[in-house]
Amino acid sequence: MSEARQILVTSALPYANGSIHLGHMLEYIQTDMWVRFQKLRGNQCIYVCADDAHGSAIMLRAEKEGITPEQLIANVQAEHSADFADFLVNFDNFHSTHSDENRELSEMIYTRLRDAGHIATRSVTQYFDPEKGMFLADRFIKGTCPKCAAEDQYGDNCEKCGATYEPTELKNPRSAISGATPVLRDSKHFFFKLPDFEAMLKEWTRSGSLQDSVANKIAEWLDGGLHEWDISRDAPYFGFEIPDEPGKYFYVWLDAPIGYMASFKNLCARRPELDFDAFWKKDSTTELYHFIGKDIINFHTLFWPAMLEGAGLRKPTAVAVHGYLTVNGQKMSKSRGTFIKARTYLEHLNPEYLRYYYAAKLGRGVDDLDLNLEDFVQKVNSDLVGKVVNIASRCAGFIHKGNGGLMVDRNAAPELTDAFQTAAPSIAEAYENRDFARAMREIMALADRANAWIADKAPWALNKQEGMQDEVQAICATGINLFRQLVILLKPVLPNLAADAERFLNVEPLVWTDLQTLLTNHQLNAFTPLLTRIEPAKIEAMIESSKEDLASTETVAQPTGNGELTKEPIAAEITFDAFAAVDLRIALIEKCEFVEGADKLLRLTLDIGDAKRNVFSGIKSAYPDPSKLEGRLTLYVANLAARKMKFGVSEGMVLAAGPGGEEIYLLSPDSGAKPGQRVK
Ligand code: 2FM
Ligand code: ZN
Repeated sequence: MSEARQILVTSALPYANGSIHLGHMLEYIQTDMWVRFQKLRGNQCIYVCADDAHGSAIMLRAEKEGITPEQLIANVQAEHSADFADFLVNFDNFHSTHSDENRELSEMIYTRLRDAGHIATRSVTQYFDPEKGMFLADRFIKGTCPKCAAEDQYGDNCEKCGATYEPTELKNPRSAISGATPVLRDSKHFFFKLPDFEAMLKEWTRSGSLQDSVANKIAEWLDGGLHEWDISRDAPYFGFEIPDEPGKYFYVWLDAPIGYMASFKNLCARRPELDFDAFWKKDSTTELYHFIGKDIINFHTLFWPAMLEGAGLRKPTAVAVHGYLTVNGQKMSKSRGTFIKARTYLEHLNPEYLRYYYAAKLGRGVDDLDLNLEDFVQKVNSDLVGKVVNIASRCAGFIHKGNGGLMVDRNAAPELTDAFQTAAPSIAEAYENRDFARAMREIMALADRANAWIADKAPWALNKQEGMQDEVQAICATGINLFRQLVILLKPVLPNLAADAERFLNVEPLVWTDLQTLLTNHQLNAFTPLLTRIEPAKIEAMIESSKEDLASTETVAQPTGNGELTKEPIAAEITFDAFAAVDLRIALIEKCEFVEGADKLLRLTLDIGDAKRNVFSGIKSAYPDPSKLEGRLTLYVANLAARKMKFGVSEGMVLAAGPGGEEIYLLSPDSGAKPGQRVK
C-alpha cells in the first residue's frame, strides 16, 4: 500500500455569538464524512476547528447580556461543542480564535507581512458614534436610502430598492447602537497589500485547488483588479491589538483563518507525534483542505493564500466550497418552522438520518442543497432501514436460532461478494472527490442487489423445508457478510450505526481494507435493531418546536450560507382581497398562564366578544409574569386555521413585533376598542 498521506482539514469557524443550525451542519457533516473516510483508509487526517470569537458584534452582545466577551464565548463554545459531538462531528480539536496560540501566530504573520513591505497605512474617514465612543461598521448605521428614500436602511445597502452606497450617502444617519447622530472622524488604518500577490493568485487559483465554478468566479475578481484590504479596527474592539500600534486591533477576518493554525498548534501540544512546522512550512509535503460555504470564498481563496505566501508559509492544497441549505425548496424560515437549530433537531431525530440525507444529496458542486422533509423521511426509511439494516435483521435470526449465532464457512454468492469488492475503488474515488451522492448511489445499488438475492433465495421459506438448513445457514452467513461490506462502505457517513454493527458482528473497528475479507466460522453477538424508521410525527414535532423557538412573533431573519443573519426582504405583494381575507379582531386577554414543559410558550384565553379562544404564543421570554397581560386588549387573527401543537390546539394567533427574546411587543389597540370588533 502507498505511504499514508498526512492531511489537515478545517471547516469554517462558527461565530461565537449564535447557535448552530442545520445550514451550518451541512458543512460540518460534509467535512466530517470526508475526514472519517480518510481515517478509514489509513491516512493521518487531522480535523480542527474553533469558535470565531472576535469582532464588535460579539463585544456588543456580551455588553447587552451584562457579561464579559470571555464569558459569552465560553458559554457559546460549550453549546457548539455539544451540538457537534451529538451530530457525530469528530474534531481532533475545537479551539477558539481568542487564544494564546492565535495571538502569537497572528502577530507573527502580521509582522512578517509588515517587514516584507506588504502592509500600508493611511487615514480613513468613517462614521463615529459620539455617545458610544466607537467607529461604526456599516451594519451599525441606519438611515434613509439616498435613492428611494426608504427609511431604516443599513449603512451599505437598501433592502427596499437594492441600491448599494457609502454610509456617508445615507440621509439622516443614526447609530443603530445608541441612536445618536454619527459624526465623521479620521483614523489611521492598516491595509494588507493584496495586489502584491496578483500573479501568485492567478496561478494558484488555476492550479487545480478549486472547483471550476469557483475558479471562474475568482478569475472575474482578479480581472477586475485587486484592492488593498483594510485589516485594522479602532478600539473599542474585541480582538488582538496590532503589535506596536496601541488602540489598533486586527479586524476579525484577519485572525479568523489563522485560527485554523492556532487550533492545530494547540493540538500539537497534546499530540507529540504531530509536527506543527511540517504542516505549515512553505515546502510542506502534507495536504491542507479548507471546507467552506460559498459566501466566504474571497477570504479563503484570495486573502488567506496571499497572507500565507507573504508570511513564507504553505498555501492550501484545496478549498472545498459548498452551496447553501434550503428546506422544502425555500430559504430556512423561522415562521415556517424550517429554521431548525441543531439542538432542536437532536431533540426529535437521530443525527445519522441527516448525515445520510446530506451525503445522498451532496455532490462536488456549489449548488444549494434542499432538505425536502418528505423526501428525507422517504429516503432514510427506504435506504437505511429498508435496504441496509434489513439485510442483517433478515439473516441474523436464522443464524442465532439455527446455529447458535455461528456463521458457517460457506459463501453462497461468490459473484456477489466479488462484485462488492470490485465496486469499492469507484466508491472510494467518489468519497475522495467529495461526490458523496455518487458514493451513496453506488452503495445503495449494491444493497439492492444483496436484497434481491436474499429475496430470491428466500431463506425463510427454505427453513421450513426438510434438509435445507445448511443452505439456510450458508445464505444467511453470506447475507451478513454483504451487510458487513455495506457497513464499511457507509462508515464515514454512519459512524454510530457502524459501531453498533461492529458490536453485533463481534469484530474490531472496521477499516477500508476489511472489504477484502469475509467472516467465516465466526461467532455473532445478539442482534438488536440498528436503526428505526423515521416517524413523520417526529418531523412535525421538530417543526413545531422550531416555530416555538420563535413562536408567532419574531421579525423574520434569514441565514446566509454560514448562518449570518440578514433581514428578510419585504414579502411578495398580495392583492387587497388577500389582505381582506384576514379576519383581524380585537381580543381581550382574559387569562394568561405558563404552559408546563414549554420553554417559550404562554397559553392565552381570549375573549373575542361572542366566544372564547385558546391561543399558544411564543412570547414567554418577553413576559415572564404572564398575569400582567391579563385584562389587556390585543389584535387577534380570528380565521387562521387551528394548529395542533404538542400542548393542545392553538386557535388563531395574537400579533406582536420585535426581534425575539425579551424584545417582543404585543400589539394593542387604542383605548375604547371592544373585544370582537373587526380591525379594518
Ligand atoms: O462566516 C463565518 O461564519 C465566519 N465565522 C467564518 C470564519 S472561517 C475562518 F476563516 F476562520
Ligand atoms: Zn432604496
